[in-house]
Amino acid sequence: MATRLTTPCSSSSTNFSPSSSFNNEAKLFTRFISMPRKYGLSTWVSHIHSKTHARKHFLLNSSNEHPLNAFSLQDGLAGNPLAKERIEPPGKERPSIPMSEAEKEESTLSITVVGASGDLANKKIFPALFALFYEDCLPENFTVFGFARTKLTDEELRNMISKTLTCRIDKRENCDDKMDQFLKRCFYQAGQYNSEESFLELDKKLKEKEAGKLSNRLFYLSIPPNIFVDVVRCASHRASSANGWTRVIVEKPFGRDSESSGELTRCLKQYLTEDQIFRIDHYLGKELVENLSVLRFSNLVFEPLWSRNYIRNVQLIFSEDFGTEGRGGYFDNYGIIRDIMQNHLLQILALFAMETPVSLEAEDIRNEKVKVLRSMKPLKLEDVIVGQYKGHGKGGKSYPAYTDDPTVPKDSLTPTFAAAALFINNARWDGIPFLMKAGKALHVKRAEIRVQFRHVPGNLYKRNFGTDLDKATNELVLRVQPDEAIYLKINNKVPGLGMRLDRSDLNLLYRAR
Ligand code: BG6
Repeated sequence: MATRLTTPCSSSSTNFSPSSSFNNEAKLFTRFISMPRKYGLSTWVSHIHSKTHARKHFLLNSSNEHPLNAFSLQDGLAGNPLAKERIEPPGKERPSIPMSEAEKEESTLSITVVGASGDLANKKIFPALFALFYEDCLPENFTVFGFARTKLTDEELRNMISKTLTCRIDKRENCDDKMDQFLKRCFYQAGQYNSEESFLELDKKLKEKEAGKLSNRLFYLSIPPNIFVDVVRCASHRASSANGWTRVIVEKPFGRDSESSGELTRCLKQYLTEDQIFRIDHYLGKELVENLSVLRFSNLVFEPLWSRNYIRNVQLIFSEDFGTEGRGGYFDNYGIIRDIMQNHLLQILALFAMETPVSLEAEDIRNEKVKVLRSMKPLKLEDVIVGQYKGHGKGGKSYPAYTDDPTVPKDSLTPTFAAAALFINNARWDGIPFLMKAGKALHVKRAEIRVQFRHVPGNLYKRNFGTDLDKATNELVLRVQPDEAIYLKINNKVPGLGMRLDRSDLNLLYRAR
């Protein structure tokens, strides 16, 4: 480690070579900020902004500085503006922090999506930015720049991203108009990721749009990690804001183990301070994940059950019904454990299992999550199963194997499926398996948390359930996607004469609700 830490920071020093270590997965835990799916990127934009500009320049409609997008229980509903925001009836405007016309006009926000032609940018980032715009969560003077190597005109960029923008937000009114307005604010700059000249060109274009106003600049790195440092070097030398803030958002993979993650941080910090770096995990923005703590800490009925005394096991399940499809080049270096388990599922596990935080401040929640991670037993190989999908035919259609992906080496042994039993060695969870399962190209697309409760002691109704008591235990399911839902499986008497029992669901289907 000492030698690695003294190597100069460049693409090559952060070009992590594949080496497998299950134990290190748990170590790769980074600070995060949440990104609510519904409000797109609103949390981080307003959170970021508020840090240095005292909430003045932009409309702050979102749950600023509340990473769980939830109100403070200690503050109570009455005293808490966020709580008011949440109990407002649908259709009512959410409150915003007032600012003068002059303030609105004085500052600009430029969001540069580096890697604009890639999968992540198109699937998630541009649509999320549009969702923010749609919800009036972007400041008045904003521009979005796409930056990538491909030569595109502004118009071509707009065409490309217009295909993925959706009106997936509640109101759905004027969506086409809003899209046009948004697209007019999108521009493109082609350039090399390691070229300071390219970033100088970008800087010129940014300045044109900023027109001498106070400029805040945000760079979203939607690129492979081996070029993070080059981009940050070029951007910080040539395209930093001269009079406002400059910030960088990175997603996983942030290294491939503790050592390389630390090294990446060290390299980024040659050009940025920690305050400028935002590491995010987009699963923390999913409604049901955000709701996890609300469910637990604001409903008396659940929290007392949340321990080894009542819970038999917890299952964290992620499955996709499609394969790597063009992302094999990236995926093959990481595999399903690094792609899904050590970040998305581990974040959910930590939120699920943590003790009540002192407050809903990011640091307080982070501290509780870290305690969970530190209490976890290192994974044993015998508690892990890995697999890789094969090709198959169904309904006259043939589906390729993982190694049929042209970007994957034919002899690749990279797991596309993994299941693992994790244990938390603390008083609350001792002995309870947290079962993680994640896989690509499976039968269904689904992400859910299943909480299985213990048997009812001395079950009066054992005659009705037979010998398989597992059939009679309660189960709480939080379906993260698709069709978000929370349901509790209970035993119930079938109406009518006699005493027939049945399994029923107490159902909260988000769409219907
Ligand atoms: C990403 C993974 O982090 O999450 C992808 O790299 C995966 O492999 C994706 O497909 C799933 O995200 P979502 O939000 O579509 O469930």
